Amino acid sequence: MKHNWTEFWRGKNEFDRSMDVNFTYFLSRVTKYVSFNKSLNVLDIGSGPGHLEDSIYHKVNEIHGVDVSERYNLNAREKHKDHPNVFFHDLSATDYLNFSMLNGKKFDIIIVMSVLQYYKSKDEVLLLLKNLMPFTTKGSKILLCDLIVQQSAFKEIIEIMIEYLKAGKIIYAVSLFFRLRFSQYYQVKKNNGFLILTEQDWKEILSQLGLKGSFIKEKLTLHKRRKNILIEM
Ligand SMILES: C[S@@+](CC[C@H](N)C(=O)[O-])C[C@H]1O[C@@H](n2cnc3c(N)ncnc32)[C@H](O)[C@@H]1O
Repeated sequence: MKHNWTEFWRGKNEFDRSMDVNFTYFLSRVTKYVSFNKSLNVLDIGSGPGHLEDSIYHKVNEIHGVDVSERYNLNAREKHKDHPNVFFHDLSATDYLNFSMLNGKKFDIIIVMSVLQYYKSKDEVLLLLKNLMPFTTKGSKILLCDLIVQQSAFKEIIEIMIEYLKAGKIIYAVSLFFRLRFSQYYQVKKNNGFLILTEQDWKEILSQLGLKGSFIKEKLTLHKRRKNILIEM
């Protein structure tokens, strides 16, 4: 039995096969806000199976994924073993806001996609952004994506299923429903919940750190109640 989110993601889990549907949708929209080119370095916080790396490694100078799941990193490294500009770094399960392994590298684009709901508190998120500052430079963009800003639970599950059905993923939609409702994920969520930061919380975080950021109006992921923030340095 996995007791917290870090343990959940470090083990084999029921999302191994389904995250890509949401990611494909995200990728088709995100390029309106960040465009990739061969001079750019990209950092992917919570890179998981490496969907971002798979999609853009050939379009950027370097891409670095960091994740608490050594299992995802092992698989992702294997997939990209012939791509010298792709790197995956293991984050400590207890000290995952420590990015010293990035050795002071500067990134033009930092993407945090569908990860912050697994953090423990608003203070941790604040510290994440603070710790990322040394890795940015003037003109860097930080995209915080798929943010849960309100309680929604069951309604959201139904809405996500409808979006998956619209995307032609009928079997995914049905299996996702069972996974979300009856799985290990459901148990971990029941015990730990998601971190929910309201729009007001986000405004406070940005203002406390003196960052220029705003909510993107259009939806970037299949989860239409979730929000996305673009920070420009
Ligand atoms: C829903 S998946 C998203 C993966 C990827 N960003 C995507 O969109 O395909 C959540 C990812 O966040 C990672 N994660 C969870 N807690 C984390 C933390 N505190 N720091 C870094 N990564 C974390 C998990 O291991 C998992 O790979």
